[in-house]
Amino acid sequence: MPFTLTVNGTPHEVDLPGTVPLLWVLRDALNLTGTKYGCGVASCGACTVHIDGEAVRSCQLALEDVDGAVLTIEGLGTPDRLHRLQKAWVEYQVPQCGYCQSGQIMQAAALLDENPSPTEEEIDAAMAGNLCRCGTYDRIKSAIRSVAEGV
Ligand code: FES
Ligand code: FES
Repeated sequence: MPFTLTVNGTPHEVDLPGTVPLLWVLRDALNLTGTKYGCGVASCGACTVHIDGEAVRSCQLALEDVDGAVLTIEGLGTPDRLHRLQKAWVEYQVPQCGYCQSGQIMQAAALLDENPSPTEEEIDAAMAGNLCRCGTYDRIKSAIRSVAEGV
């Protein structure tokens, strides 16, 4: 029986085995390729999406275990209506190769939704599991701080 999955506000019927990771449902079945595959073992954060507002690693979440509304980077903002973090990412020229950045932004968005004024330590703790091979960490932090401070 197909699964019904709400992604970025739209319900989808997905006829795939329940064990398929959400990451591949998003990328291969729904063509939402902004969510990236990095490690496949919940260790890099490239695949981060939200389930009911909480940041989760979609590479390790089976389709049959998805128990809420999914938000991906495509639903966080649109090209003509960027999320405030996406605006900050542009302003601070955060990305280098860009591969990790949708996961970084989704992780940061979950942090600010839960804690609009995080301390430096709270930002570090929230973002520690999102790896960037290009080393954009300082710019990521500056962008998050600018949004948190309303600069
Ligand atoms: S691909 Fe999911 S955490 Fe690395
Ligand atoms: S910008 Fe290249 S991996 Fe993060």
